[in-house]
Amino acid sequence: MRTIIYLLAMLFLASCTNQTQIVTSPDGAVTVKIITDNNVLQYSVNFHDKQVVLPSSLGFKFANQPDLLGPFILQKTERRNVDETWKPVWGLDSMIHNHFNELRLFFKEKLEPQRRFVLVFRVYDDGVGFRYEFRQQANMDKVAIISEETQFRLPGGMAWWIPGDYESYEFLYNHTPLAKIDSANTPVTIELKTGPVISIHEAALYDYADMTLTHAGKDSALFKSKLVPWPDGIKVKTKTPFRTPWRVIMIGAHAGDLMESHLIQNLNEPNKIKDTSWIHPVKYVGIWWGMHIGKWSWYYGPKHGATTERTKQYIDFASTHHIPGVLVEGWNKGWKTWLKGKNVQDYLKPYPDYDLKFLADYAKKKGVFLIGHHESGGNIPSYEEQMEEAFSLCEHLGIPAVKTGYAGKIHPEGMHHHGQWMVRHYQKVVEVAARHHIMIDAHEPIKDTGISRTWPNFLSREGARGMEYNAWSDGNPPEHTLILPFTRFLSGPMDYTPGIFNLKFEDNGKHRVYTTLAKQLAYYVTLYSPFQMAADLIENYENQPAFKFIEDVPVNWDETRVLKAKIGDYLTVARRKGQNWYVGSITDEKARHWKISLKFLKRGQSYKALIFTDALNTDWVNNPTTIEIGAYRVTADDSLCVMLSPSGGQAVEMLAAQPEDVRDLKPISTFNQAQKKKIKPFDAVPVYRKN
Ligand code: NOJ
Ligand code: CA
Repeated sequence: MRTIIYLLAMLFLASCTNQTQIVTSPDGAVTVKIITDNNVLQYSVNFHDKQVVLPSSLGFKFANQPDLLGPFILQKTERRNVDETWKPVWGLDSMIHNHFNELRLFFKEKLEPQRRFVLVFRVYDDGVGFRYEFRQQANMDKVAIISEETQFRLPGGMAWWIPGDYESYEFLYNHTPLAKIDSANTPVTIELKTGPVISIHEAALYDYADMTLTHAGKDSALFKSKLVPWPDGIKVKTKTPFRTPWRVIMIGAHAGDLMESHLIQNLNEPNKIKDTSWIHPVKYVGIWWGMHIGKWSWYYGPKHGATTERTKQYIDFASTHHIPGVLVEGWNKGWKTWLKGKNVQDYLKPYPDYDLKFLADYAKKKGVFLIGHHESGGNIPSYEEQMEEAFSLCEHLGIPAVKTGYAGKIHPEGMHHHGQWMVRHYQKVVEVAARHHIMIDAHEPIKDTGISRTWPNFLSREGARGMEYNAWSDGNPPEHTLILPFTRFLSGPMDYTPGIFNLKFEDNGKHRVYTTLAKQLAYYVTLYSPFQMAADLIENYENQPAFKFIEDVPVNWDETRVLKAKIGDYLTVARRKGQNWYVGSITDEKARHWKISLKFLKRGQSYKALIFTDALNTDWVNNPTTIEIGAYRVTADDSLCVMLSPSGGQAVEMLAAQPEDVRDLKPISTFNQAQKKKIKPFDAVPVYRKN
């Protein structure tokens, strides 16, 4: 009897160790294989019959215990299907479909110390997320990860990427074959040789280090996770139980599919804030651009930007133009120390020429609110010491949102912006702010990994090269904002700060913005942020008919559709709020034209279309600000001609109207005909999606 039991046990073990587990997405488009044959643990991913990830290894190396690289015994598996919808507090679609097949694989090391972990795969129609989970166990208590050995063996292709820097994501994008990547910060977006477009990123980054990608060995398309270290070289310090962030591969047939995906949010936990009545998207102006173009200073002195008088003017402007928020930077004491070694600011005390209490009340009277600003300059102990009181002050004064900043070297010395210690800090800020009913917009942040599903008061963040670079550097070239929607924005909203009207501001021609005015307007539809700025000095908006688009455009949407998209080249996005649609189109340095079918409008409904577009003689070099504005009547049977100058744009609002209200307007066909006559037709551009 004993021999039979032994033989059966051996047979069972053998069958467990030589297995390939398969899990497919609900519609069958995405297939993941987990291979545990021959003592290796690998996974691979396919999209239809196309290879996305070739067999790639998994595991860990530790500083305080043996490596965890196998061989492993697969002890059991669990499967489930989840099909649900959820409603975000704000965002691009009012309902989100969360539909996946999950496979949980319970592994145990074959040899001592026989540690156990669960590998969880969630397979969606638009990609894959997987993570490692470690339960509490006798042979594994304290954990010091020296390397997460998660690999991504790709079939080759062209990648859009920024360097795997530990302090900043503020770079221009490279577009190179995979082999040319040295190290990269995610999301890294890749047009694979096999056809699909993918983006590698992570979701739900809590108490762990940021994952960058680096080459693993000589294979030009083999990448592995490279975590940002602590000063002593350890990457993650933790203990069981713990789980890693999700490693995510977003997958689409076209680049536009990635933009429509909610995979990163779906992989995050539901909202943890019970009462969300105080959380709302914010459009804002601010005392900000003036400092970046050198007209004003953050610090107290003759050029001080944040004076009571100027802030009053900004409040008046915001109130007149129905812009709810007014950001004021440089309001508090300590700015002289910023970027000069250790930043020591006081987040409770205003400069003498800034009457904080009066201004907060004045804003309230005018039906708007102030937005606070905390520039830590990287000095974390000093900020953390004051944080509780600083948020409390904002709450007390009716300041519902704070922009935070981490421009400067992190103190304590040796910590990196993207390391585990800072990940903890960024999270602490969001949670303390939530207790005080404060919304957060973080600059120099940790990258977005979708946690605003769980903490919806984390409205937006920077985490890429934003508008400010045009004020004081060699600027953002025309194609930069044609790359961001397919890379940085896949992770979540970005506070890019669009809306510069004075594109060639007076600083002796040293700097400028590399777009037309119409493209600045189109950014409000193409570059999503629920914390969205009209970034220019308010005097540049006075008597500008184009400002109407910024007044009207929503910062929260019910539905989003990407109508035409090519990474680095061109983009058209349509977004719906209630019955109204907004359409934004932008191009890189090339003039382009295309046609959009308006089939997405409601059948039988009349709309008043207000079109803001580049004129015949508009060009971003010499004549960027000339813009044509017209009102037309449109229906779902119509199409819209998009005719863009180099680095140009078109912004359109289509407001549902009664037929009698649009009867006197010209039909859109007159606009389309005029557009066609404007410029000699360019070479035909392929259409990404016909509606
Ligand atoms: C860098 C931020 O990106 C910018 O918006 C801010 O004005 C400065 N830091 C000062 O805090
Ligand atoms: Ca910045």
